[in-house]
Amino acid sequence: MKIVISLGGIFFADAAHIKTVAEVLEELAESHSIYVVTGGGQPAREYIKIARELGANETVCDYIGIAATRLNAQLLISALRNAYPEPLTDYKEVAEATVKGEECIPVIGGVSPGYTTDAVAAILAEYVNAELLLSVTSVDGVYEADPRVHPEAKKYDRISVKELLSIVMQAELKAGSRIIIDPVAAKMIERSGIKTIVIDGSREPRAILDAVIGKHSGTEIIRER
Ligand code: UTP
Repeated sequence: MKIVISLGGIFFADAAHIKTVAEVLEELAESHSIYVVTGGGQPAREYIKIARELGANETVCDYIGIAATRLNAQLLISALRNAYPEPLTDYKEVAEATVKGEECIPVIGGVSPGYTTDAVAAILAEYVNAELLLSVTSVDGVYEADPRVHPEAKKYDRISVKELLSIVMQAELKAGSRIIIDPVAAKMIERSGIKTIVIDGSREPRAILDAVIGKHSGTEIIRER
């Protein structure tokens, strides 16, 4: 199966986390074609905050976030034995890399201002005709509102892409904003119809392996309810 895995920035906090997730990805790559997208995490937000204080506009801040995602891509590549040696920067490069190095895992960070690596993963999933898009974060699924701000918010086991859109379209699309799935990603999931699952992999990265075989306690995004 072709699987695109979007890893939130939380995975890149230290070497131990990166090593563990790299082992899981290598195991998965033994039986599937995988494509990995890396988020920017806290360093991205810190750099964006400083840039904003210096008067940088949102596009400049987005470029700073993209740079952070690529640093994390490089860290993950350092931990993988069979990764394409450079972080990829464009969807076509990913396709070329997988043709050149048959068994290698392509790793890509951000691509373009105006969205997050959720959207990169969703666009890539459509481009390579993936059968599954896994968004692996530190939140255990999609909630009706951000559970870090609204602890009483209800979590969805399954959510239609239309409902998801009505939640995420209310969010601000500022550089570094924390949103479970960004609006561009949600629209891409709507148009491609690719099966998408949001899971928390931050405590146990092996949850990624379970999610691939349908065992998860996250949220599945479905076309219609
Ligand atoms: P992330 O993809 O890491 O944001 O991109 P996120 O998903 O909200 O955060 P984590 O990693 O899961 O915690 C960080 C920032 O980089 C810019 C955006 O400003 C984004 O908020 N970015 C990233 C882009 O502008 N374009 C991209 O393709 C990727």
